[in-house]
Amino acid sequence: MRVLLTGGAGYIGAHTAVALVEAGHDVLVVDDLSNSSAEAVARVERITGATIPLLSADARDADALTAFVREHAPVDAVIHLAGLKAVGESVAEPLRYYDVNIGSSIAVLKVMAAEGIRTIVFSSSATVYGEPESLPLSEESPTGIDLANPYGKTKRMIEEILKDAAAADPHLRAVSLRYFNPVGAHDSGLIGEDPTGVPNNLMPYVARVAVGALERVGVFGDDYDTPDGTGQRDYIHVVDLAAGHVAALEHAREGYEVYNLGTGTPVSVLELIAAFERAAGKEIPREILPRRAGDIAASYCDPSKAQRELGWRATRTIDDACRDSWNWQSNNPRGYATA
Ligand code: NAD
Ligand code: WQD
Repeated sequence: MRVLLTGGAGYIGAHTAVALVEAGHDVLVVDDLSNSSAEAVARVERITGATIPLLSADARDADALTAFVREHAPVDAVIHLAGLKAVGESVAEPLRYYDVNIGSSIAVLKVMAAEGIRTIVFSSSATVYGEPESLPLSEESPTGIDLANPYGKTKRMIEEILKDAAAADPHLRAVSLRYFNPVGAHDSGLIGEDPTGVPNNLMPYVARVAVGALERVGVFGDDYDTPDGTGQRDYIHVVDLAAGHVAALEHAREGYEVYNLGTGTPVSVLELIAAFERAAGKEIPREILPRRAGDIAASYCDPSKAQRELGWRATRTIDDACRDSWNWQSNNPRGYATA
């Protein structure tokens, strides 16, 4: 299939592009490069040997999307990754998050309908579950209750938009993938996570401490009701996550479906830091800090629906993710700017 990746120059998009090409698909990318670099797409080309057409444009720009799709017709599917993803920023700038995340989704769906593109895979998030009532989280677990941040609300709303669009068009194949915590990097060390500024997320922060770019890791609370008192998450290797997109694309059928993409294995902050120390062969300085506002104690999924229906499951461990994250960071201490 020929697949348009919106946000395809980003962390997950670049890895998904590699997985799609290696599965025999053609890929084109639209990305406004607001949180990524064209270098990431160039490196995808280096890894795969494929040519990846890149349009630097806003995914809300339906005219630009239409022209690009027609230039590369026939396009068979869209994987919609473009969007803003910083939870804290979304609280400060809700209108921007609604405009970008929901506006781009509506524009993409309109262009798909006009151009006869019938399949969409959407980057949703475990954030839609909010504070879990029970664990593990399955796709039937409650969502959207007391979501504390606009970011999570945009993901929840876009899932509803996809559900309604699929109900209105019996030919539409729509899939939401609820990512848990993506970590790691492609084993080539050529692509990886390259957050702008000081990372909000744990793994890239630890990686920056390991290369000496940051002094120490702040552990946000060690008084949670977890085995070692620190927060537990379901860290999924980004290469496994990318493979989940290929499986979702190839198994998409008419209607709307949602899948958790995670490992089902909770890992704590201290366990991740210990795994990174093993990977890097060095101590990672840390200090215990108060809990971060809005954090939940634990989140991890039941990944059995994706395994049952998509024939997909995560195979890489937190040690694999730390090894690959260290390889990326140590070979690219300034991310893509190293180029
Ligand atoms: P990322 O920021 O690396 O990638 C997003 C890409 O979208 C970037 O390349 C950015 O330049 C682009 N973009 C942003 N606004 C755009 C616009 N208006 N038009 C075109 N391009 C635009 O983030 P990521 O981690 O790769 O996340 C990809 C998707 O997965 C996002 O939708 C995010 O919400 C979702 N997600 C991410 C995580 C995570 O922890 N990384 C977890 C769950 C869901
Ligand atoms: C993981 C654990 C922290 C940083 C976020 C978004 C979510 C999704 C994935 C987009 C927690 C602890 C963190 C640090 C720490 N993104 N931590 N020190 O919060 O589970 O999820 O990213 O969809 O929407 O909310 O990920 O990596 O920020 O935190 O102790 O410097 O690490 O308390 O327990 P989170 P995270």
